[in-house]
Amino acid sequence: DVEANNARESLYVVSQYAANYFASELWTGEQGRAIGLSYFKERGFREDIIRKFELGYSPDQWDALILSAKAAGHKEEYLERTGLSVHNDKGRVYDRFRGRVMFPIHNFTGRVIGFGGRTLKTDKNVPKYVNSPESDIYHKSNVLYGLFQAKKAIREVDNCYLVEGYADVLSVHQAGVENVVASSGTSLTVEQIRLIGRFSQNVTILYDGDAAGIKASLRGLDMILEEGLNVKVVNFPDGHDPDSYMHKVGAGAFKLYIENNRKDFILYKADILLKEAGTDPIKRAGIIRDIVESIAKIPDDIKASVFIRECSRLLQVEERMLLTELNKMKSARS
Ligand code: UTP
Ligand code: MN
Ligand code: MN
Ligand code: MN
Ligand code: MN
Repeated sequence: DVEANNARESLYVVSQYAANYFASELWTGEQGRAIGLSYFKERGFREDIIRKFELGYSPDQWDALILSAKAAGHKEEYLERTGLSVHNDKGRVYDRFRGRVMFPIHNFTGRVIGFGGRTLKTDKNVPKYVNSPESDIYHKSNVLYGLFQAKKAIREVDNCYLVEGYADVLSVHQAGVENVVASSGTSLTVEQIRLIGRFSQNVTILYDGDAAGIKASLRGLDMILEEGLNVKVVNFPDGHDPDSYMHKVGAGAFKLYIENNRKDFILYKADILLKEAGTDPIKRAGIIRDIVESIAKIPDDIKASVFIRECSRLLQVEERMLLTELNKMKSARS
């Protein structure tokens, strides 16, 4: 209704106000320049990228944003409903983001709906990232960080790179690979995959090369297949993420790496699982079943049969046997 729409509009407005405030602190605030801007520069982010993604800095103070927003005529109620301010049980209200570099999160039409804030401290007791909570304008499961800045390139290149973090999006985008988004703050959801599907049917997963990243990539690829999209995966060595690998090898070598190490999901899964199984024949049989299970998720039967053939070739198993297994799984589910 009209009232709810007016309230939502107020949340968008106060969020954009906050993004502008954090950006102005970053570029012109004493603390922001000395701490925030120099942090981004030390990480190698260029000024044009810092501007394009509207990055900012939240002063290390209890109520810097609250005071500024209220002086500009914004109601405290809306700051709280976006999660930009929080109150404790004594009723004291303070800024959620303090002394952090700020990453505004846009919806795909470009409106600011939330924030991620990274600490500059190395203290392990401080959470590395603090994120906006869900609100009437921010539904995490429906949002991909960077999509607004990436959507044109995703359509043009007809592929979407999916990374884990804010910094990964910035680094990859800055290297000229602009078709990149992150499912920051949540593990990948069906809604996020459908959102990508509006721009391209092809997804390439570039998750961190650690145990958590590999696990998330296996889960992600099954979900992507289930939504009928095509999926490939690139694995980074030695626990690197796209951002750290970019810094290690440079933009040119990074692009070559993702071109040359982009694996079809079957090959990727087989590689990982075969490494785990070693020569144990029973474990190897389990892998075959595991891969066929992924193939069984593909809604398009013709596409699935192509992958069955590839799987047969790769694992040296008769196609007929794989097809039998595939049909068993499909009928078990329906
Ligand atoms: P990572 O731990 O891989 O961080 O989390 P990162 O992006 O590589 O961080 P940098 O390079 O040290 O800055 C990946 C993503 O998970 C979310 C953030 O979106 C982050 O970018 N995350 C991580 C949180 O929401 N909270 C956390 O405490 C940590
Ligand atoms: Mn809603
Ligand atoms: Mn990680
Ligand atoms: Mn990471
Ligand atoms: Mn990182």
